[in-house]
Amino acid sequence: MGENMINLETNFFFSLIFLLNIVLMAGRHGLTARFNVHIIDNLPPNSKLIVHCQSHDDDLGYKVINPNDDFNFSFNMKLFGGTLFFCHFWWNDQNISFDVFNSHIAEKCGEIDGDHLECYWKVQKDGFYFGARRNPPPNYEKQHDWTQ
Ligand SMILES: *[C@@H]1O[C@H](CO)[C@@H](O)[C@H](O)[C@H]1NC(C)=O
Ligand SMILES: *[C@@H]1O[C@H](CO)[C@@H](O)[C@H](O)[C@H]1NC(C)=O
Repeated sequence: MGENMINLETNFFFSLIFLLNIVLMAGRHGLTARFNVHIIDNLPPNSKLIVHCQSHDDDLGYKVINPNDDFNFSFNMKLFGGTLFFCHFWWNDQNISFDVFNSHIAEKCGEIDGDHLECYWKVQKDGFYFGARRNPPPNYEKQHDWTQ
């Protein structure tokens, strides 16, 4: 009888710890954070940008993007970490590949509402700029050059 009671208490205690961990891991964005990553082509007219984005689970395929296009994709951030998208970019004999989304970048994306966030990448002749959201306009900061 007494032993069952202890087990019950122990289980409850570990359940509580487990729940607490989930809440902590979810961080400030709750359990259902949905991200929208935009890649905006700000290259000179007639440029042809090719982008190939992938995550662990998804291959978004090769996309040809024209100046002023907004190539964007959405996904839910995984609770137990590790949601990561990387893209390979080609333009004018140059290519580079880097993370467009990971847990570090997620922290810098902009909230639209509580559980919906946006991250912007702007592709220019002189490199790649990151900004939080479109409205108000993102405060873009350069993150990568074309040359690796
Ligand atoms: C996001 O991409 C879709 C096509 O997949 C496009 O129709 C839409 O205009 C893009 N969003 C923005 C804000 O440009
Ligand atoms: C990327 O560019 C480098 C030169 O900067 C080249 O050696 C390499 O083959 C290119 N890779 C791809 C996948 O296009």
